Amino acid sequence: MNAENLGNTASTQHNDITGADRIRTDVAHNARVWNYWLGGKDNYPVDRAVAEQVVEMFPGIGEVARADRAFLGRAVAHLVEDKGIRQLLDIGTGLPTGANTHEVAQRIAPDARIVYVDNDPIVLTHASALLTSSPEGTTTYIDADARDTERILRAAAETLDFERPVAVMLLGILNFIPDTAEARSIVRTLMDAVPSGSYLVLTHPTLDADVGGADNQPAMDFWNANATPPITGRTRAELLSFMEDLELLPPGIESCARWRSPEAPPVPQVPQLGAVARKP
Ligand SMILES: C[S@@+](CC[C@H](N)C(=O)[O-])C[C@H]1O[C@@H](n2cnc3c(N)ncnc32)[C@H](O)[C@@H]1O
Repeated sequence: MNAENLGNTASTQHNDITGADRIRTDVAHNARVWNYWLGGKDNYPVDRAVAEQVVEMFPGIGEVARADRAFLGRAVAHLVEDKGIRQLLDIGTGLPTGANTHEVAQRIAPDARIVYVDNDPIVLTHASALLTSSPEGTTTYIDADARDTERILRAAAETLDFERPVAVMLLGILNFIPDTAEARSIVRTLMDAVPSGSYLVLTHPTLDADVGGADNQPAMDFWNANATPPITGRTRAELLSFMEDLELLPPGIESCARWRSPEAPPVPQVPQLGAVARKP
């Protein structure tokens, strides 16, 4: 166990790895603003001000955040219950909420092993709430940037067996990698490291008109001028290019609100695409 990899069996946290001294309260941060839109309390005045301004420009943003979390729950449950997945690598974890990945997975399979990764210091300060694994399973937390795939894979290998299938989860995070080639390369490196029978789980904001994203560029521009990290929307076609060598599970790339939704159609769409794909 090392400083970059906190496990549910590790009880020691040292100041230089708690993240508290890295937290900036003068600029809005995505993890904290996302927490505000989800109704959480782990945010600062600067986050709330930006969050409220975005709500004025894009009133549906709270629904996007809730639909994304609900998608996470359905996708994890589907993979664990129906596809036998027991290992999950959740990159861009966000602050703990009511139903975190390990809770959804271990409710179905108590022996599931989960590795969380985020680069925001406030998520690190709350990591203990993510490290409440069932005794049969494991959760660990890695404080790392998604771009540092080598380090993530090295640290994750302390918890996950890369000879067995892994669900690689990138929910609401590739939108913070503005360069599409770089985002594609991150996905490729991660999926190259996992065996056949592994899965990629994605959500991503879009400006695609058919799911209601056409008017959201001004809100994204406002975000980029006032908050961090900078965000970009992507089209269905761009997301498809991240999954070229993978097999998309039905219903394909959909508004995440509709993906395997148990609600009776027509479920209102949100401009956040969701997809799950299998490595053949
Ligand atoms: C929109 S939130 C999504 C949280 C969660 N995955 C969900 O779907 O509810 C994005 C998360 O990604 C994290 N993040 C953004 N850029 C990152 C990067 N380059 N490396 C690691 N984490 C990043 C943020 O700190 C934040 O916690």
